[in-house]
Amino acid sequence: MEDLNTLISQLTLEEKATLCIGATPWLTAAVERLGIPALIMSDGPHGLRRVSDEGMNEASKPATCFPTASCTASSWDVDLIRQLGDVLADECFALNVNVLLGPGANMKRSPLCGRNFEYFSEDPFLAGEMAANYIVGLQNRGIGASLKHFAANNQEFQRFSIDAVVDERALREIYLPAFEKAVKVGKPWTVMHSYNKLNGQVMSENAYLLKDILKGEWGFEGLVESDWGAVRDRVKSLVGGTDLEMPGPKPARAQAVVDAVQAGELDEAILDEAVRRVLRVVFMARQTSKTAAGFDVDAHHAFAARLAAEGMVLLKNDGILPLEGQNKLAVIGRSALRPHFQGGGSSHINPTKVSVPLDEIKARAGGAEVLFAEGYPEDDSARQDLIDEAVVLAARADCALLFIALPTWKESEGYDRKDLDLTAQQIALIKAVTAAQPRSVVVLNNGSAVVMRDWIDGAAAVLECWMMGQAGGIAIADILFGKVNPSGKLAETFPRRLEDTPAFLNWPGELGSVRYGEGLYIGYRWYDSRDIPVQFPFGYGLSYTSFAYANARVPKEAITDVEGTVVSVDITNTGKRAGKEVVQVYVRDVESKLARPAKELKGFAKVDLLPGETKTVSIPLDFRAFAFYHPKHKQWLVESGDFEILVGASSQDIRQVVALSVESTAELPSLLDRESTIREWMEDPRGSDVFAEFFAQMMEKTAAVFGGMEEGEGMGMNTMDMFMDTPVLSVLNFMDALLPASPDEIVDGLLAKAHSL
Ligand code: BGC
Repeated sequence: MEDLNTLISQLTLEEKATLCIGATPWLTAAVERLGIPALIMSDGPHGLRRVSDEGMNEASKPATCFPTASCTASSWDVDLIRQLGDVLADECFALNVNVLLGPGANMKRSPLCGRNFEYFSEDPFLAGEMAANYIVGLQNRGIGASLKHFAANNQEFQRFSIDAVVDERALREIYLPAFEKAVKVGKPWTVMHSYNKLNGQVMSENAYLLKDILKGEWGFEGLVESDWGAVRDRVKSLVGGTDLEMPGPKPARAQAVVDAVQAGELDEAILDEAVRRVLRVVFMARQTSKTAAGFDVDAHHAFAARLAAEGMVLLKNDGILPLEGQNKLAVIGRSALRPHFQGGGSSHINPTKVSVPLDEIKARAGGAEVLFAEGYPEDDSARQDLIDEAVVLAARADCALLFIALPTWKESEGYDRKDLDLTAQQIALIKAVTAAQPRSVVVLNNGSAVVMRDWIDGAAAVLECWMMGQAGGIAIADILFGKVNPSGKLAETFPRRLEDTPAFLNWPGELGSVRYGEGLYIGYRWYDSRDIPVQFPFGYGLSYTSFAYANARVPKEAITDVEGTVVSVDITNTGKRAGKEVVQVYVRDVESKLARPAKELKGFAKVDLLPGETKTVSIPLDFRAFAFYHPKHKQWLVESGDFEILVGASSQDIRQVVALSVESTAELPSLLDRESTIREWMEDPRGSDVFAEFFAQMMEKTAAVFGGMEEGEGMGMNTMDMFMDTPVLSVLNFMDALLPASPDEIVDGLLAKAHSL
């Protein structure tokens, strides 16, 4: 690697400013006289949208469209995700790309977010594992990742300007951990910050997030780039931690940086640091850069099919699947012929080829007659004729396969959904077909949860196929006909009604800001803590076989927080087919001072089992598995006490519970201050002794002021109950005349004693 400091000292001020702004929509500036090449970037995340270096919205070069993140996350298969990174790297070499703009690690705060298809999960642990493994797979091959969109970019509505108002605990425990894991484990070359504001500060200038947390606490050494067009003021954004503004060129902005340095308004050291981070990545890319003539289109298509099959989730099956022995199949729905396998926006890929579900079904139908009806149009028009045609066909067949895809006008980057329903035509179609043909299987393509209560009772089976990538047609047919045993599990809850969803009352915000009023409680954390029935819980998915869980255990019943533990469980395939089970480990803090969700995912493993086979799965749980973020101590802490380790097949199908006692090793300073209440003094390990003595004296005096403390005495209420949660200072303020010193002096004296212990 070049000596970056020497190189920086040879650059002119103008060159440095120019290096920190794109030279084209996708390239950084090259400085030929010093041998500094351009860095070439391309969207992402689930395939390459490689346009020309100057191009923006033109058709991109053919590339494999892999399943989007909702699908890959539902595989719960970290090895497969790492392999995806590896395969994507091949295409980057072939299409001359150094950095792929992905993965997206934002949380699915609401299923309404139009871009959820590009994000992994409603759970930070699962999303973090997925993002980190994607990055490792890609970067092991010498292609950089751009982890995006940092942070709290959880909706498309007003995404360029909305102010996400998020409390510190929700930020630390829900919205940041997936990024944190991906940064610490994956060490992405670049992180892309989002468009939105966070707690009043635009992300491009958000020094707290970009400098203190990302570069400081997490030790991120790569470059921070803006989302495309997210910078408002280049000088302020440099100060705030944005190393590279994209896209470019923007000569006036580069000049503004030069002027600011010359006027003494911008410390040149800040610019130098941004340049150093840009150059570091530029030279990392040059070191590993190689070009390939092409990539193996068929092998990548086959891998895309495998990935899709692992991520599809069988939601309902009354026994109709896998299909067997049919003579006549009615395939209904335009997405069987024109598959909906990706989303709209910057991730949109020009696929190398597309597997059509209808063709794949015909190829596996084993001589059965396959009929087809379109069922619904592309737009939102009502077409009873298409429904009538479908019903006739369905009634004539042995079973109906209903292909229903949520159209792009309902779900895409750039806008959010207004509801969680399928289109009115699709709902009417499903109802009519399932009424005419009870043996109906609904095959869904959508990027995030849809509601089903209007029609699910009529369906014999439902297969969730997500935005499944270009080879999804193969995966669908393989699952329907039993060549593949489904093993995907939901990485997001499917609610019953929009009104039940966590952000319902705080969505999409108003007057420019959106308050994350549900705090920590998104996804299953909300439904479980509030006991709200859902259509399908987080972590849920059926298989053509069944699994038994036994002997969940930990080596020691009591541990310290820093020790961590390993939970082991024996999983047996109790059915007749080989299959895979996603074993999930949730942690519950039995009692805690600060509010905590009913349970939180802290580990998982996917295990492959032959019929009758048993394997022991061991899942590690570290400090963070038991910790919460304490906003006042500003650190992760474990509260000493009892925990439960819940081992299950979904968030609501807990099969085994293991008790564990965890002892905190943290040495914490007292949080007592002038506002501290009597209860807080009494419960504080340092303050309680100091306070006890004082309290005894005070009690005598309070009687003189307030009369008796018991109900029916004095003020006719239980005065002590009120005082327990009143600051000592406020109580003393009622008793001024009786005190030997002023209330302020007394409390300050107590505080001095408590803090000196
Ligand atoms: C999107 C990013 C994308 C970038 C470049 C932005 O609008 O939010 O995800 O990488 O454009 O296309």
